[in-house]
Amino acid sequence: MSITEKSTIEARPKIDKGLDDIYVKESSICLVDGREGRLLYRGWDIRDLAQHSSFEETIYILIHGRLPAKEELAEAKRAFGESRAIDPEVVKLLRCMPEDAPPIDVLRTAVSFLSNFDKERDDPTRAANMRKAQRLIGKMPTLVAAHHRIRQGKRVLVPDPKLGIAEDFLRMLTGKRPDPLSAKVMDVALILHADHSMNASAFAATVAASTLADLYSTIVAAIATLKGPLHGGANEAALKTMLTIGKPENAESYVLNTLQNHGKIFGFGHRVYKTWDPRALILREYAKQLSELRGEEDLFHVAEIVQDTVVRELSAKHIYPNVDFYSGLTYHLLGIPLDLFTPIFAVSRVAGWTAHVIEYWEDNRLVRPLDYYVGPTHNVYVPVERRA
Ligand SMILES: CC(C)(COP(=O)(O)OP(=O)(O)OC[C@H]1O[C@@H](n2cnc3c(N)ncnc32)[C@H](O)[C@@H]1OP(=O)(O)O)[C@@H](O)C(=O)NCCC(=O)NCCS
Repeated sequence: MSITEKSTIEARPKIDKGLDDIYVKESSICLVDGREGRLLYRGWDIRDLAQHSSFEETIYILIHGRLPAKEELAEAKRAFGESRAIDPEVVKLLRCMPEDAPPIDVLRTAVSFLSNFDKERDDPTRAANMRKAQRLIGKMPTLVAAHHRIRQGKRVLVPDPKLGIAEDFLRMLTGKRPDPLSAKVMDVALILHADHSMNASAFAATVAASTLADLYSTIVAAIATLKGPLHGGANEAALKTMLTIGKPENAESYVLNTLQNHGKIFGFGHRVYKTWDPRALILREYAKQLSELRGEEDLFHVAEIVQDTVVRELSAKHIYPNVDFYSGLTYHLLGIPLDLFTPIFAVSRVAGWTAHVIEYWEDNRLVRPLDYYVGPTHNVYVPVERRA
């Protein structure tokens, strides 16, 4: 009996649209503790990683599940530096993209294209997948920076393997080496976005992985899923709100009016965190320092007043700032344009995606859910010449 026949004769099952509260795998990669406001990668608290670690070490922790020894970390940094270069054919592809192509679409296309240059693309062994993950993670910042330079009519800069991923990314993007605070803030932002357990994009990557598609295909699926405004786009909206408010003296009334009209303030509330999102607290401190360095304290004050007003009005409903409230502001203060926020999210999250995919392959099962058929079952086919 086919599935369709089965669903028409069975009583209507419970339908888990959105898969809320459905566990799809066991994982030892990431714990989001929404009650206590903690985020752990492989058991390590992101507050410690943001303070003491680097994006390269965080990737190592996510993918290997342990802290690297000193030489292993040095080797990982060397390998990331080396794999940052992209093939001239890939740069040619970036030049072919229409001028107004959204950078996240360009990144998705470029990652797909990139797979053709990886000789190990179809080698399914764990060791080959680890190497592919390292190469792909290394290249993503270069893709984003190179495309941004091209659309601005500027020269594409080659990577500097001596620099860390975050610092070199800002250099390749802006054309100048960032000051130490900006490099540190970029590094911390990449650490904080590197994973967040089984969200929509990690699940999309997992579904593709479950068919035993190659690693690049799984990341293309993840990037496509991240693009949606319900997933990767909230920090853009949060920053736009701050820019619209403009002046600190307008902030409280803006929030109160929005709430009175039952509107939502972007960058607040979370499905899992019912308290302060620990990532928001970390980025808030860096956004403050950056705003002082850039002389843009007014915008930070706007953010502070919006935060204080929303928390005062909505903490009874467990609504607090999430990471997006401060990440948009942080990127803006780093001089990064709005439409690069989601690609930068992908530059970081690719670490978590690859970790989840490699973990899933250790005990793979094809993802094949059901839908409950509610359409007609006895339509009569009428040849086209006899249709009205
Ligand atoms: C993220 C989000 C979808 C979580 O939704 P949720 O867990 O379903 O929370 P709920 O929608 O049940 O919210 C509970 C209450 O708080 C209110 N609320 C939630 N987030 C709010 C926000 N950002 N601004 C104003 N009110 C908010 C809801 O309207 C609801 O009020 P009600 O009980 O009077 O109906 C939601 O908070 C939101 O839309 N936030 C803004 C977008 C955003 O920042 N997204 C990024 C998330 S990482």
